[in-house]
Amino acid sequence: MPDRKTFYITTPIYYPSDNLHIGHAYCSVAADTMARFQKQAGRDVYFVTGTDEHGQKIERKAKDKGVTPQAYVDEIVAGIKSLWKLMDVDYDDFIRTTDERHVQCVQGIFRKLYAQGDIYKGHYEGWYCTPCESFFTELQLQDGHCPDCGRPVEKTREEAYFFKMSKYQQWLIDYIEQNPDFIQPTSRKNEMLNNFLRPGLSDLCVSRTSIKWGIPVDFDEAHTVYVWLDALTNYISVLGYGSGDDSRYRKYWPADVHLVGKEIIRFHTIIWPIILHALGEPLPRQVFGHGWLVLDGMKMSKSLGNVVDPVALSNRYGSDAIRYFLMREMPFGSDGQFSYEALLKRLNADLANDLGNLVSRTIAMVEKYFGGQLPAPEAYTEGDAVLIALAESTPAKVQEQMNELQFSAALSDIWALIGECNRYIDANAPWVLCKTEEGTHRLKTVLYVLCECIRYVGVLIAPTMPRTPALIFSQLGFADQNLQTLESLAVFGGLPVGTVVHKGEALFPRIDIPKELADILPAPIVEPAPEKKPAAKPQPKNNDAPEGDGLISIDEFAKVQLRVARVLTAEKVEGSDKLLKLTLSLGAGEPERTVVSGIAKFYTPEAMLGRQVALVANLKPAKLRGIVSQGMILCASDAADTRLTLVSVGEGMEDGAVIR
Ligand code: ME8
Repeated sequence: MPDRKTFYITTPIYYPSDNLHIGHAYCSVAADTMARFQKQAGRDVYFVTGTDEHGQKIERKAKDKGVTPQAYVDEIVAGIKSLWKLMDVDYDDFIRTTDERHVQCVQGIFRKLYAQGDIYKGHYEGWYCTPCESFFTELQLQDGHCPDCGRPVEKTREEAYFFKMSKYQQWLIDYIEQNPDFIQPTSRKNEMLNNFLRPGLSDLCVSRTSIKWGIPVDFDEAHTVYVWLDALTNYISVLGYGSGDDSRYRKYWPADVHLVGKEIIRFHTIIWPIILHALGEPLPRQVFGHGWLVLDGMKMSKSLGNVVDPVALSNRYGSDAIRYFLMREMPFGSDGQFSYEALLKRLNADLANDLGNLVSRTIAMVEKYFGGQLPAPEAYTEGDAVLIALAESTPAKVQEQMNELQFSAALSDIWALIGECNRYIDANAPWVLCKTEEGTHRLKTVLYVLCECIRYVGVLIAPTMPRTPALIFSQLGFADQNLQTLESLAVFGGLPVGTVVHKGEALFPRIDIPKELADILPAPIVEPAPEKKPAAKPQPKNNDAPEGDGLISIDEFAKVQLRVARVLTAEKVEGSDKLLKLTLSLGAGEPERTVVSGIAKFYTPEAMLGRQVALVANLKPAKLRGIVSQGMILCASDAADTRLTLVSVGEGMEDGAVIR
C-alpha cells in the first residue's frame, strides 16, 4: 500500500436479504480488520459499507409480502446493521441507495454523462436476469439461460438509455495493463482482460422503464437508473461527491481498496472505472476480488439450503473467534471450505490451546511464584534473546502481510510467536526453576519475557480480534493505552515491572468437538443439492462386455465426470520442466480448482490463459511437487511423447459444461 495518511476502504453494498450468511460476513470482517489495522498504523481511515436496495428483485419480494419496497428494505437493513454490530464491524458510514444523498448523486452523474454525450437514448431489446439484475444479449445467453447463475431470463424490449462503454474499451485495457495492482489477485486481472475486455465491450443499457423501484432519471422520469450504475456510485455518493459539501470526497478519494467477491469483480473493474473515467475522476487504487467461503464444495445460497448463520455462530462462540477463523482459514483471494469441524478444530488448537493456555499458565505462574507481581528481568540468555528477536521482528512481518491483504499469513506470523512462547516455557521448565534460589532468579527473567511477548501478541491480534486484547491486558494488569499501540512494540521491554496480574476466566474455553458437532450439526446445516453428474445412458441388453477384455461398460464410463473448464491462471512449477500449475474455473457458483498438468514442454503459461480445456473433474486429488492437483486435463499425444495437443472444446460452451 502506498505510504499515505488517509485510507479509504469499502465492502460491496449488500442486497437486503433476510438470510445474510457467514460468506457475506467474510467480506465485511476482512474490511473491518483492514480498517482497524490501518488505524493502528496511524492512518486516518474511512471505512464504508451499506445496502443496495433497488431493482426488480426487491420490488417483487415486497409485493409478495404485501408491503411497500421501502418498508421491506427498512426492516432488513436494520437486521444487517445489527449483524455488523454483533460482529464488531465498525464502519464509519453506512450508505443506503435509498438515501436522498445517494439518489441526488446518481441523478447528477446520469445528467452529466448524458449532457456530455456518453449516455444516449435508444431501444433495448434483449434478455434480463432478475436475480443477477443483469442484461444479456442473445449471444451471451447459455442454453437460453443466464450465463452467470444459470437461471431463466426474461425477454424485454423498451426505450432505454445507453452508456458508451465501447468508446473507453481500449483506454481501460491500457490502464489495466499499465497498473498491474489495480485488479488483484492477478488471476482476476487476466480473466477480465481475456474474457471480457479483449473480446469487445457493447454499450451498456443504463435505464429501464419497466422497473419502478429505482432512482428516476430526473429529466425523463419514465426511466429508472440501471441498478449497477446506481449501486457502484455508492462509493463516492457516501463521500458527498457532487453535493454542496464534498470535503470527504476530496480527502479520501480515490479509494485505497474496494474489497469485493470474485463474481462481482467484473462490474467493479469494467463498468465502474469507465464511469469514473468518463466523469474525469481518478480510479480506485485497487479492486481486490476475494474468493468464496464454500460449504461442501458449493457456494452458500438459500436456494441450495446450505447457509450458515453468522448470528448463531457469533452468539455461540463469540465474534472474535469467528472473525479469527474467517481471516485465518483461507488465503484472501482463494476459495475456502467452511466446515464446523474445521472451525472447532481451529478454536481448540489455535485459540484455546496455543493462545489461551499461554496466557493462563503464564499469569498463573506469576501469581504462584511472585505473588502476582511482575518481576524485573535479570540477565538475558541466548535463548531469551532468540525469543525477544522473534517478538521484535513480528510486527514488521505482520504489517507487510497485512499491506498485501494477506490476513491469514499475518495471523500465522503472530501464531509463530505464540508457538515459540509455549516452547520457551517447556524448555525453561519453571516448575523446576522455582525449586532453587538461582533458578528463581532465572524465573524472573523467563516470566517477564513471556508477559512482554503476550503484550506483543495482544497488540498484534487487535485488528482481527478487537475484544480479546482488553481481556489479555487486564490479566497482565495494565490499562495504559500507550502500551497498546504498534509504536509501543518498537523496543522490547515496555511492560512496566511490578504490574499486578489477575488470573481471569479462560479466554477461549476448550470445546468437546464430537459432542459439539452432535449438538449443532442437525440444526443449521441442510444437505446441499447433489452435484451435477452426467446421466448414465440406459445400456442395451445382452451387451455386457465380458470381463478381462479391457472393455468397460457405459455405466463404468459414466462414473468419470468430464467437464469444460477455463484456465484462469497458469505458471510453471518450480524445479520441473514438464509441469504447469493451472487454476481452473468451472463457472460461477463452483470453487476454483488447482490442477498440475504435464504440458509445460508444449504450452507456455501465457498460451493457456483464458483457454477452455476438458477436465476429468472427479479424480481423487493427488500431490505433485507438493501441490495438490484436483483433476486432470485431457490431451492427445504420440507414443514417444514428442507431440501433444490439448483436447479442445468447440466454441460457445459455458465453463463447467458436462462432456459426455
Ligand atoms: O453482490 N463467500 O450484493 P450481495 C464469500 N449488491 N463472499 C460471499 C459469499 C460467500 N459464500 N456470498 C456472498 C451484491 N459473498 C451487490 C454488490 S456493490 C456496488 C453491489 C459476498 O449481497 C459477495 O461476493 O449479493 C459480495 O462481495 C458480497 O458478499 C455482497 O453480496
